[in-house]
Amino acid sequence: MKKEQLMDSARKIKSAAYVPYSKFPVGTALLLNDGTVINGVNVENVSFGATNCAERTAIFTAIANGYGKGDFQAIAVAGETEDFLPPCSICRQVMAEFCSPDMPVYLTNEKNDILELTLRDLLPYAFTDLEM
Ligand code: THU
Repeated sequence: MKKEQLMDSARKIKSAAYVPYSKFPVGTALLLNDGTVINGVNVENVSFGATNCAERTAIFTAIANGYGKGDFQAIAVAGETEDFLPPCSICRQVMAEFCSPDMPVYLTNEKNDILELTLRDLLPYAFTDLEM
């Protein structure tokens, strides 16, 4: 699947975001190695810390559906920001748990440009399950 198609999927699902507090919708589309696309949106809570970002929603949904390490091919993140919207640091750490450092992460902006990064670009020297 092309990155433009994956990003379209992320853009479309954005309208399902539950964002009564921030009014900042985010949509994600996570491409799996078998071609399945799993979407995510941010889901907020009146107790703000209980909010779940769109990236984690997609990854956790994939895990709940039986996918795991080695199954993740790429993720696209779409918001409504002028500049490219990058995943927050907690989401980067969750990605590091399940995804390869080489996994492409596609970001977009108001002009619908697509910036292609890798997880390693976003989280160098990630804390992973290191040998002791
Ligand atoms: N948010 C995401 O869902 N993903 C990001 O990459 C950045 C932030 C959400 C959390 C919250 O619902 C809203 O955006 C504002 O921070």
